[in-house]
Amino acid sequence: MDIVEIRDLALAEVCSADSHTKLEEARVALLGRKGRITTMLRSLGELPKDQRPIVGAQVNEAKRSIEEAIAIRREELDTISSNTRKLDAVDITLPGRTQHRGSLHPVSQTFNAIEEIFVSSGYNVVYGPEIEDDYHNFEALNIPEHHPARAMHDTFYLTDGMVLRTHTSPVQVRTMESQNPPIRIICPGRVYRRDFDRTHTPMFHQVEGLVVDKGISFAELKGTVTSFIEAFFERKVDLRFRPSYFPFTEPSAEVDVMGEDGWSEVMGCGVVHPNVLSMSGIDPEEYSGFAFGFGVDRLAMLKFGVTDLRVLFDNDIRFLRQFG
Ligand code: PHE
Repeated sequence: MDIVEIRDLALAEVCSADSHTKLEEARVALLGRKGRITTMLRSLGELPKDQRPIVGAQVNEAKRSIEEAIAIRREELDTISSNTRKLDAVDITLPGRTQHRGSLHPVSQTFNAIEEIFVSSGYNVVYGPEIEDDYHNFEALNIPEHHPARAMHDTFYLTDGMVLRTHTSPVQVRTMESQNPPIRIICPGRVYRRDFDRTHTPMFHQVEGLVVDKGISFAELKGTVTSFIEAFFERKVDLRFRPSYFPFTEPSAEVDVMGEDGWSEVMGCGVVHPNVLSMSGIDPEEYSGFAFGFGVDRLAMLKFGVTDLRVLFDNDIRFLRQFG
């Protein structure tokens, strides 16, 4: 066998070694102390003098390519075994990890539904402060100090004439102070009253509505409220406008919706009182408007069939999961 044949055979042996043990065996058989290549190198001295350098170079060349092949094969075997180990570490028969998907709180869902309805009919959404001054919460809404209507609001008083706003109506005032008609806004937000029972919590949510323009009357208010209620409940709803009193609207009404336990009050509304317009710098001779304010939590209760308002704020995960 000439040296080239010996080398090719050796390379084939190395490349087909399918484990580190087999590869090591092949290495010893070729390059070990008694290995075939080693032996050949050692016996060079037995060759005629003129052949030694030629054969010597060939054998050394063969040795180098065998060493190289061994190194490459070793790396290949490493990669294969680490991949196998990775596969073994994954039990592909285990069930997958479930993703728990959260959901919006029913009150947030209700806010979103309300905003969508009004925004799609051209209303802007505005916000106001929850810590409000006496002027915006009462005075500018035609409720001067000592007015009996203040008793309708179980107010949380803070220091320096500030209150936790008892309704979102002060945002009407803030809007009229800073914008010229035509005005068409809703104001969603939290409000506070000292009240706690099955249908009252000290913090609850309202959405205020205000439209001011030329020639706005109670008829527009009635149409707006009716179509909003029907859009919100996604069906024809029995509702009634019951005459009522608010110092900042005249005439005023409360709106009741027929629920499972009979009529349920959902909002107050009316034609904006001329005093309220003029106090905020709008000429009541030129402009008129309507306003409404409704309880978001009440609407959520009616829509989702919840009978105790307080569970909306307990944040019991078993309750909340039902609204996913
Ligand atoms: N602010 C009133 C309340 O909280 C509701 C209301 C708003 C009434 C706008 C009339 C006009 O009860």
